[in-house]
Amino acid sequence: MAQKSAARQFLLDLLLAGVTTAAGLVAFKYIHAHFDPATQKRDAARRLGDEKLRRLGRRVELDEWEEQIATELILPSQIAESFESIGGLENVVSSLHEGVIAPLCYPELFSQMTSAEGGSGAGLLGAPKGVLLYGPPGTGKTMLAKALAKESGATFINMHVSTLTNKWFGESNKLVAALFSLARKLQPSIIFIDEIDAFLRDRGSGDHEATGMMKAEFMTLWDGLTSSSDRILVLGATNRPNDIDAAFLRRMPKRYSVPLPDAVQRLKILRLMLASSRLDASFKYEPLVARTEGCSGSDLKELCRAAAMQPVREYLRSGKGKAKVLSLKEAQKTRRIESGEAEEREKATVETRPIRNSDFFVVEGNSAVGTNAGAKKG
Ligand SMILES: Nc1ncnc2c1ncn2[C@@H]1O[C@H](COP(=O)(O)OP(=O)(O)O)[C@@H](O)[C@H]1O
Ligand SMILES: [Mg+2]
Repeated sequence: MAQKSAARQFLLDLLLAGVTTAAGLVAFKYIHAHFDPATQKRDAARRLGDEKLRRLGRRVELDEWEEQIATELILPSQIAESFESIGGLENVVSSLHEGVIAPLCYPELFSQMTSAEGGSGAGLLGAPKGVLLYGPPGTGKTMLAKALAKESGATFINMHVSTLTNKWFGESNKLVAALFSLARKLQPSIIFIDEIDAFLRDRGSGDHEATGMMKAEFMTLWDGLTSSSDRILVLGATNRPNDIDAAFLRRMPKRYSVPLPDAVQRLKILRLMLASSRLDASFKYEPLVARTEGCSGSDLKELCRAAAMQPVREYLRSGKGKAKVLSLKEAQKTRRIESGEAEEREKATVETRPIRNSDFFVVEGNSAVGTNAGAKKG
């Protein structure tokens, strides 16, 4: 009898110990998951990646690393730029259409042309595996890539090198592998790396071992593309093509130069940028085009922004403007106090004068906007 109760006691103790351990484990797991920043980050990445895939209308199974890469997917709806909003780069745009988008997205078109010949000639017309956009800063390279993301119809992965780097040894390699496997699952895909010179710089002995390994992995997988029929393309943009390792340059045989705009291109860019502004009847583009020799598209944008600011500044300094600012301030104050009440939105009917030629090249503060600004910019 005593023996039986001792056995029961033992079993009870064992059960209790088991339950306590299990509860401890669950609690530990919960706490770990809750307070570990890496887990949280991964969960956030998974949610973001899933959401993007859902909105792209793609159903694929992803592993842990691919999920992290999926956060870099670009949805066409996220992008405002289109080929129409790019001025003066028609040549590059049409070459991109013919040489990159068409073979990537409509390979049937090209396989029919080469299949008759067969042999080593077949595949000559295939999509390039590497494309490089190069030129001075501010000439619209990133913009071109964004327009491609919007209009090409291919999956667009905007790869940030920071996403590929991980503090754990070997993890970066897995992320690089995941980048290519994700691109394969969602093909046709474009892997875009902006400022690619920073990533694929001359591999010196100064490279960290992990970085070197990551680049080697990248190259191997990139080479794998060349021999397969996968429709994946690596697109790079840089303003320092000379800093790129020769081995990488070789893998980007298709290169498009995006130079500083000439007079005709500047006129097109200025027309685009001022399209929605009210211009004075006396406004003329020609003197502006002549004075902006050497300016990049981004310089022109800054110039137009400063010029458009000029009428606003005049208005703000006038008596009418000051009164308007005061009344708006009052309205804001009362709105804050009676926040519950239906706010009667005061329409900001600001009457500024149209933009004139003289609004350009006004020295603002102590930052003179002059010609050849683009040439001096780093
Ligand atoms: N050809 C262009 N047409 C219209 N806007 C341009 C052009 N080039 C540059 N811009 C303007 O300059 C900005 C910066 O251009 P970006 O593409 O980032 O230059 P980068 O060549 O350095 O990548 C763009 O957002 C755009 O507003
Ligand atoms: Mg750029």
